[in-house]
Amino acid sequence: MNHIRISGTGSALPAHCVSNEALAKTVDSSDEWIRERTGIRQRYIASEQETTSVLATQAARKAIEAAGINAEEIDLIIVATTTPDMIFPSTACLVQAALGISGSIAFDMQAVCSGFVYALATAERFMRSGGVQHALVIGAETFSNLLDWNDRTTCVLFGDGAGAVVLSLSDRPGILSSHLHADGSHAGMLCVPAHVSKGALSSSTPFVHMDGQSVFKFAVKVLDEVCREALAANDLSIESIDWLIPHQANIRILQSTARKLGLPEEKVIVTVGEHGNTSAASVPLALDTAVRDGRIKAGQRLLLTAVGGGFTWGSALVVF
Ligand code: ACO
Repeated sequence: MNHIRISGTGSALPAHCVSNEALAKTVDSSDEWIRERTGIRQRYIASEQETTSVLATQAARKAIEAAGINAEEIDLIIVATTTPDMIFPSTACLVQAALGISGSIAFDMQAVCSGFVYALATAERFMRSGGVQHALVIGAETFSNLLDWNDRTTCVLFGDGAGAVVLSLSDRPGILSSHLHADGSHAGMLCVPAHVSKGALSSSTPFVHMDGQSVFKFAVKVLDEVCREALAANDLSIESIDWLIPHQANIRILQSTARKLGLPEEKVIVTVGEHGNTSAASVPLALDTAVRDGRIKAGQRLLLTAVGGGFTWGSALVVF
């Protein structure tokens, strides 16, 4: 049992789906512009009841069922999120309680859109150091709460949702390696510049601020680099990868990354059209979608990668 593999996946989406056409009725944009520049056709937007912990718990239940274990067997819960229900306790503690369990380690991971890859790599390291047999790793967001719905340059890009995996100790290979990086010197390029102070928000614009073109260039550069780092660490070529599962920010970022890596576009899992950019939820949501529709099969090599605010970025090479 010296390997760590993904033993189950799950995901959850809010009930309310908002098409580009519907959005264009409330903000100065169009279906054509959004599709052409981003590949997004629709996104799901959470109601007040569909909090991050609610979506995370729904995804977690499905992953636990797929793994064929009981919730009581989980030793570690990490929730990657930028949009926790509360400042504290952590969303992971809320998920633990909602699952009806207690005693396991539970904490949140804040690395924005790279959060799930950060959480996966952290859980992997916990498991390698002993004491954890099954870990629940979740990416969950209600990013719609951070958007200025009058700002067409950002509000059309994002959606809400959750994805989860169960990691289990195993006799056969699973996570081959994971690679994490950050560079805080670009913090202003993509941020929500606000905090709570003395019972009020510290800013009158507590929304996503983004220099879109700079983010685009940075994202393509580091996604290519960190995927190559994963391949080199395992002495594998890009031809040996069955599926690239990138953070679903924008179809043009995904296409540029695939082109730079020399990977055919057919090998890229793309869900940004249906989900928009769901930040930390996007990689596990894409993974679960492709597992459940039968594209991803046992034994295939997956390259997971993400980049997000901070900046943070990372990759994980996994045998499914
Ligand atoms: N609808 C219609 N017009 C728009 C919209 C919109 N929603 N948004 C911007 N425009 C206009 C602009 O005002 C501008 O008009 P102007 O020429 O009259 O000034 C024009 O469209 C072009 O704007 P640009 O910003 O140059 O458009 P660009 O081609 O760069 O596309 C985009 C913008 C889609 C944001 C792109 O820069 C991008 O994808 N960047 C990556 C950002 C990203 O994915 N962020 C997600 C978070 S980060 C992450 O997840 C890694």
